[in-house]
Amino acid sequence: MIQFLLQHHSKIHSALPDSVYVPMRNLIWRQGVLRSATIVDRLGELTGIEKDDDPPRNVCLRYGTTDASKLAEDGVIKARHILGEVRDAGFDLPAEARVLDFGCGPGSVLRALQELAPNFSLFGCDLQRQPIRWLRRHHPMLHPKRTSPTPPLPAIHSDLDLIYAISVFTHMSLEHAQLWLEHFAERLRPGAALYLTFIPPDHAAFMKKFRIDPSDLRSGFYYSQTRNITIIDPDFLNERLARPARFEWVCCKTAPYSNGQRVAILRAPAS
Ligand SMILES: C[S@@+](CC[C@H](N)C(=O)[O-])C[C@H]1O[C@@H](n2cnc3c(N)ncnc32)[C@H](O)[C@@H]1O
Repeated sequence: MIQFLLQHHSKIHSALPDSVYVPMRNLIWRQGVLRSATIVDRLGELTGIEKDDDPPRNVCLRYGTTDASKLAEDGVIKARHILGEVRDAGFDLPAEARVLDFGCGPGSVLRALQELAPNFSLFGCDLQRQPIRWLRRHHPMLHPKRTSPTPPLPAIHSDLDLIYAISVFTHMSLEHAQLWLEHFAERLRPGAALYLTFIPPDHAAFMKKFRIDPSDLRSGFYYSQTRNITIIDPDFLNERLARPARFEWVCCKTAPYSNGQRVAILRAPAS
């Protein structure tokens, strides 16, 4: 049946109205006949009936859910927090601010920002091919770019008023974190805002979950490639990462999402 559907999807879809085809596809999905979300989503892509606004399941799965609406809700919470906290920290974002989501995944935060601040110029980048490919097709206005683990960013990601990085410096080596902060300082406008989340050593739940001993953090920075986790002491972030890249530490908050990661808001160098 899978073979038949894949071989004849376009004929099947053109022969059937969406009112029949979509429930049929959903039924197949629910019954687990097609084991892979990728196959179901590929059918949606090929037949052109995927819902434009929602990332497909195979993309959502990378971000911990198959429910696109959960990702969208999460995006709204994050977007509101960014706008509110950056403003409260004393940054006056222009009406046509240029904003980069570093590690944007399927763009849930960017898509929420599109609604909240329709005049912003929004940009997204990520290492992952799938979410960027999906964003390119469905949200080209977000200028999605696939980037590398180390700088530089594409030239279009310049003269930025704000860069935010949510749950990205939570999985990064010290060397890469240093390189990115230096690069952000070059791509932000003088005095512009950087909003980044990190996991501090006093976050007991994360320390327990990843079985990290406080003694592992004597230097103030812990990174494990095998466990895919980075813990950063706020003093280390300020003195050893932000300051050498000429960022000014503005404030530090607890985020109302992602299990209460910490958010650092930094000011780019004045020149
Ligand atoms: C945990 S996800 C968070 C996605 C999104 N920021 C959010 O809050 O929903 C981390 C994302 O950062 C991306 N990422 C990690 N390192 C990166 C890098 N150096 N450059 C661009 N993206 C990166 C990953 O591919 C992944 O999509």
